[in-house]
Amino acid sequence: MKYQSQRVAYWFFAVCMLLLSLQLVFGFIMGFAHMGYDGLHSVIPFNAARASHNNLLVMWLLAGFMGAAYYIIPEEVDREILSVKWAYIQLVALVVVGVTAIIGFHFNWWEGRKFLEIPRPLDYLVVVDVLLFIGIIGGTILKAPKKTTTSLVLFFGLLMMALLYLPGMINTDSQTHDSYWRWWVVHMWVEGVWELIMGAILSFLLIKLTGVDREIIEKWLYIIVGFTFLSGILGIGHHYYYIGTPKYWLIVGGVFSALEPIAF
Ligand code: HEM
Repeated sequence: MKYQSQRVAYWFFAVCMLLLSLQLVFGFIMGFAHMGYDGLHSVIPFNAARASHNNLLVMWLLAGFMGAAYYIIPEEVDREILSVKWAYIQLVALVVVGVTAIIGFHFNWWEGRKFLEIPRPLDYLVVVDVLLFIGIIGGTILKAPKKTTTSLVLFFGLLMMALLYLPGMINTDSQTHDSYWRWWVVHMWVEGVWELIMGAILSFLLIKLTGVDREIIEKWLYIIVGFTFLSGILGIGHHYYYIGTPKYWLIVGGVFSALEPIAF
């Protein structure tokens, strides 16, 4: 570890592991319920366990990405994190929102939209929290003496992760439109944005672990970004078809989805 402030990442990873463990607990509760052992039903009904299982997955993933960014960015751009205090505040706020949401699910306070069950007032808090995170990371890069392709791709991925949470908050009375926007969040995240974050993390690890020239690795990173956009954005079409949009989306979505593994 080159910079003291990178230590923040440790707590993000610890929270990440804790949330993953909790997700597994809810997974077992559901597994047993499926087998007929549903003794906890009055306290943890199946729908609450399922919403918790799915949303904990999103939360630990976010905590992991954030921890990775707090570790990688200082080393990539050669300076300490903009504010360690605010990074800790941001982590605590994330945990508070997450715990409130999980408790809320057990009292039927949820939106019933898979992966985005978090109730609307808490959505706003998630947005504030993620913007704070983006501000800290963006500020660190802006004030740094150098900028690398890896750090910029990571930052752009994280920024898009924040922006693409917003379509899920568009209010509509139509089930179809709601499904459309929900898919924007879920699909653009997994097939458009995660690859940028994953690609940048992979690039950092390969440079550190193998000693291969940064230029070579980062050239491939550009190719990953290109393939991700080419395949991911149109690949979303297979979901469009199933919510009632015209038939051509099936072929467009099918062909471009099939190209998605190329980025990996
Ligand atoms: C011991 C570990 C786990 C157990 C026992 C478990 C159990 C379950 C069960 C029983 C369901 C079905 C719920 C239903 O019938 O509606 C489920 C759904 C799901 N699980 Fe797990 N799970 C585990 C780990 C994980 C992990 C590690 C992940 C992801 C990283 C994950 C992601 C999911 C997702 C996304 C669904 C929802 C699938 C859908 O409805 O489309 N699970 N899990």
